[in-house]
Amino acid sequence: MKLEALPVIKGEYNLQNYDEKYKQFDWVETEKEFSWSKTGKINLAYEAIDRHAESDRKDKAALLYKDDNRDETYTFDEMKNLSNQAANVLKNFGEVEKGDRVFIFMPRSPELYMALLGTIKTGAIVGPLFEAFMEGAVRDRLEDSGAKVLITTPELLPRVPVSDLPELKHIFLVGDNIEEKDNLHDFSAKLKQADTAFSIEWVNREDGLILHYTSGSTGKPKGVLHVHNAMIQHYQSAKWVLDLKENDIYWCTADPGWVTGTSYGIFGPWLTGTTNVIVGGRFKPESWYKTIQDYGVTVWYSAPTAFRMLMGAGDEIVEKYNLSSLRHVLSVGEPLNPEVVRWGMKVFNKRIHDNWWMTETGAQIISNYACMEIKPGSMGKPLPGIVAAIVDDQGNELPPHRMGNLAIKKGWPSMMHTIWNNQAKYESYFMPGGWYVSGDSAYMDEEGYFWFQGRVDDVIMTSGERVGPFEVESKLVEHPAIAEAGVIGKPDPVRGEIIKAFIALRDGYEPTEELIEEIRQFVKQGLAAHAAPREIEFRDKLPKTRSGKIMRRVLKAWELDLPTGDLSTMED
Ligand code: WTA
Repeated sequence: MKLEALPVIKGEYNLQNYDEKYKQFDWVETEKEFSWSKTGKINLAYEAIDRHAESDRKDKAALLYKDDNRDETYTFDEMKNLSNQAANVLKNFGEVEKGDRVFIFMPRSPELYMALLGTIKTGAIVGPLFEAFMEGAVRDRLEDSGAKVLITTPELLPRVPVSDLPELKHIFLVGDNIEEKDNLHDFSAKLKQADTAFSIEWVNREDGLILHYTSGSTGKPKGVLHVHNAMIQHYQSAKWVLDLKENDIYWCTADPGWVTGTSYGIFGPWLTGTTNVIVGGRFKPESWYKTIQDYGVTVWYSAPTAFRMLMGAGDEIVEKYNLSSLRHVLSVGEPLNPEVVRWGMKVFNKRIHDNWWMTETGAQIISNYACMEIKPGSMGKPLPGIVAAIVDDQGNELPPHRMGNLAIKKGWPSMMHTIWNNQAKYESYFMPGGWYVSGDSAYMDEEGYFWFQGRVDDVIMTSGERVGPFEVESKLVEHPAIAEAGVIGKPDPVRGEIIKAFIALRDGYEPTEELIEEIRQFVKQGLAAHAAPREIEFRDKLPKTRSGKIMRRVLKAWELDLPTGDLSTMED
């Protein structure tokens, strides 16, 4: 697919000259920016909050929080005190010690952020869970991690199978008028009474920080463990990729149950001392635009699904709001269709900067930078300090335009430390030559831009042609009748596989034979004859993860009448 590159929009960016920086950057330069490089005392929460509270940023707004009932501002100084109080509560009443697992299962609220930072200050490992998890998903995660403490709400408590979890010693409830008994504590009341002074537990760089459970293509969810050392990359990528600067008002729309909601909803912005907007509640296009307008959001980090939903809500809504504060817009989590990039240019007059990374990588790895031309449909280029390549199944680097495994040279600062309770699984990610293999297939063009093609097991081989499902899906959603599309390979005796598309139509369109033929022609003409779906099935909705990825393995399971596997990460 040949697409025109979008030129750089004029500006002073933190990363000025990508090529030069890429040639001569060393992470040691970043380490010097942390206070531990002088004091030797390491804790991410200190660098994210206390360091600013002890500086000129003391009274700067750290958190601007809003949901249907609350509208609150917290300065760095207040965040320091409140997270200290949370740490005291956890230590005094929850017996929390360094290395313990403390899980947080609750909707977004300021208390969630205090509890998370407080946990880190005690030296414990924090495990954030999506509020939408049902009992089975909660059990799997608390059981596997051996969680000792859980912070939740009275509404969610019935989903915690306490009697099945012998290692769970204390539960803290956030809310009003909590009735305390045995090991059930009133977090909110205790927080108010707690001492605002806390002596932070200093850790080693390789000590546990956060445990994110994530689903693979098979098996139960796995616990990806990150360590304090990851802060080096959280900080540097927040500068280079998010382009955060002193006066920015930054909004990341992700929930902390997903790695984007912690690495870039908490760590990146606060390590750089940035004012961070957090919005609770459900997605509503109008209130999203209103958030940008009312807070004067300058840097906005979201996901393709959200952009597509905004796109679907219509351009008239955009025009009702003043979005002129926006300076830099970014996307992650799934392929960003060129169509969405073009829409962003039209309605915001901004380029949407796609970037690629995974729970396992801990931080951004490949990105489109503000200072560089972006090619719509491409994820961009590796961060300075990181080596990415396309390799074959033996670990040999492939030349440009050859599709293969997207791999990263082991040893970037935010690389996962292990898979909890499963060192063998951890080791299975690596290949000879020191490559971490992502499980994504992609190719690189002659200018070094990476192009996503699909998860390795999703790549379709039809009549000898390798077809990336994303490319077909991207083309499909350009058709005016199509709201969402998911594409899989269906086994076929003649062609190996044929392409089958599951399609959700926009309102006002009917699934007719004419439409099916029209869609096929549309892909044939826009992409390639072999890429046109031979089979099309209409559905009201497609199965998606909470972070918006189309779950192709569920489509495959529907098609082939197989078990769907773990569905805990599927949206409601
Ligand atoms: C996919 C998300 C295409 C990819 C931070 C990856 C993407 C998986 C992109 C990780 C992108 C993420 N373009 N695909 N820009 N970003 N992905 O762990 O398949 O939830 O392996 O972390 O999402 O998903 P995860």
